[in-house]
Amino acid sequence: MSLKDKIDKNKIPEHIAIIMDGNGRWAKQRGKMRIAGHNQGAKTLKDIIKIATELEIKYLTVYAFSTENWDRPAKEISGLLSLLVNSIDQEIENANKNGIKISVIGDISRFPKKVKSKIQNVVELTKNNKKLNVIIALSYSGRWEIVEASKKIAKDVKNNIIGFEDISEEKFSDYLDTSEIPDPELLIRTSGEKRISNFLLYQIAYTELYFTDVLWPDFSENELYKAILEYIGRERRFGKTSEQIK
Ligand code: IPE
Ligand code: IPE
Ligand code: MG
Repeated sequence: MSLKDKIDKNKIPEHIAIIMDGNGRWAKQRGKMRIAGHNQGAKTLKDIIKIATELEIKYLTVYAFSTENWDRPAKEISGLLSLLVNSIDQEIENANKNGIKISVIGDISRFPKKVKSKIQNVVELTKNNKKLNVIIALSYSGRWEIVEASKKIAKDVKNNIIGFEDISEEKFSDYLDTSEIPDPELLIRTSGEKRISNFLLYQIAYTELYFTDVLWPDFSENELYKAILEYIGRERRFGKTSEQIK
């Protein structure tokens, strides 16, 4: 029985988030430039999007570039931006053919004008697609998102759009970049690092975390099935006792 066949279709998470890490180490192991790892990582993402569509996953959120990544060498950043622009150009047609809606979370204002308009363009051109939502975190950090949400709430309270007493956990979620998106049930991080690195801090309160040593460029269809199978095998208690769940 293949790993895929072992998966109970009814138990597949609706939303999977991925910290796609390890591109640099993958390249280094091969004596290549870091950008070669990012290029291979982009290919992996394409494959995983295809598998996610086949599995009928509704939301796939991927961490592609963090706020902190702006501190990397200028050469790496420009390489990543070119890769982003080229990937968008190559993927629009495929996204529309396969019902993939692409959206972005993060501080897009920090990108050069040309990159920003490319991003806005792909979001606009795929906005009516209904099958799989691919959410790309770009220039994103969880703390930034929470602070921005707080500022927007403060402004709305000040302008009497909402009352102070209306602020609740749910209301707060409405002000996050992920307002339309349910929290992920499963978060995968590749490359052996066991940290969150400022990703989706508010949203992962009860998310199942899955860490693998596999580097992102090597992450395959089977690695995704392994993560889903482990997720399905876990008991999510949300603070209750095991008996209450059963
Ligand atoms: C993840 O791979 C991609 C980005 C952060 C843009 P890394 O570039 O962090 O790869 P490692 O961690 O150095 O191997
Ligand atoms: C997290 O990876 C960000 C992305 C995958 C885009 P990093 O490689 O930047 O994280 P740290 O610095 O190892 O925590
Ligand atoms: Mg890394």
